[in-house]
Amino acid sequence: MIKKCLFPAAGYGTRFLPATKAMPKEMLPVLTKPLIQYGVEEAVEAGMHTMAIVTGRGKRALEDHFDVSYELEHQIKGSDKEHYLTEIRALIDHCTFSYTRQNEMKGLGHAILTGETLIGNEPFAVILADDLCDGEGNGILSQMTALYERYKCSIVAIEEIDPSHTNRYGIIEGKEIEEGVYKITNMVEKPDPEHAPSNLAIIGRYILTPDIFQILENTPAGKGGEIQITDALMTQAQNKTVLAYKFKGKRFDCGSVEGFVEATNYFFKKSNL
Ligand code: G1P
Repeated sequence: MIKKCLFPAAGYGTRFLPATKAMPKEMLPVLTKPLIQYGVEEAVEAGMHTMAIVTGRGKRALEDHFDVSYELEHQIKGSDKEHYLTEIRALIDHCTFSYTRQNEMKGLGHAILTGETLIGNEPFAVILADDLCDGEGNGILSQMTALYERYKCSIVAIEEIDPSHTNRYGIIEGKEIEEGVYKITNMVEKPDPEHAPSNLAIIGRYILTPDIFQILENTPAGKGGEIQITDALMTQAQNKTVLAYKFKGKRFDCGSVEGFVEATNYFFKKSNL
């Protein structure tokens, strides 16, 4: 069973400046909940209770969010506003949160490697909180852990994208071994459309076996001069099975203003607000 979920959360969020000047992008709210909380809830739904967060400078609000605010608790206790804190209180009660800092921005692969100290030698999940997901039936991570139980290998979540957008994602090529499940034969980080092996894009949900850390240590800088998890997974796929899973549900790219507005509208329609 997978118990730990890693959240790389050291990025600057430049596309949301000035909102992200003094506030982590993971704290941007969709309705009343910050993006990272949606991610933590998805991990909890998949049976995980240990959250490992890779932060950076200016990210203290993340730690405060997942901690008790005594002053606020005192103010709100017994009032008609107490219900606003129900969900976050439950997360704080049920999970442990640990943090480590990535002090250099050397890419997603480097961020994941930085998290090794919090994960240790066991399989783990990764959530990129700005890919906000709403699973059909079960959450995306829950769908992926069910697949992990059967295959016991690294898995990336994928979706079909507009072929002109391949340069925004890691792109996979693979052999479909059961409906919506591909054995990866090739993967490339952000290829131009004319060089993309398919239009199957990796989205921000991964299950990784712990040998990925050693592979990452030996992965040279790739696209953009950064250490890419896509490259490390390709090395892993050359030696053993790595799967890509076409998830059931919706994904919003909340790293872009357009995706963020779409997510807000979607969750507002679903809510009772
Ligand atoms: C990262 C990964 C990319 C993946 C994407 C999903 O890119 O490097 O392979 O497709 O996340 O959101 P980023 O969005 O951090 O540039």
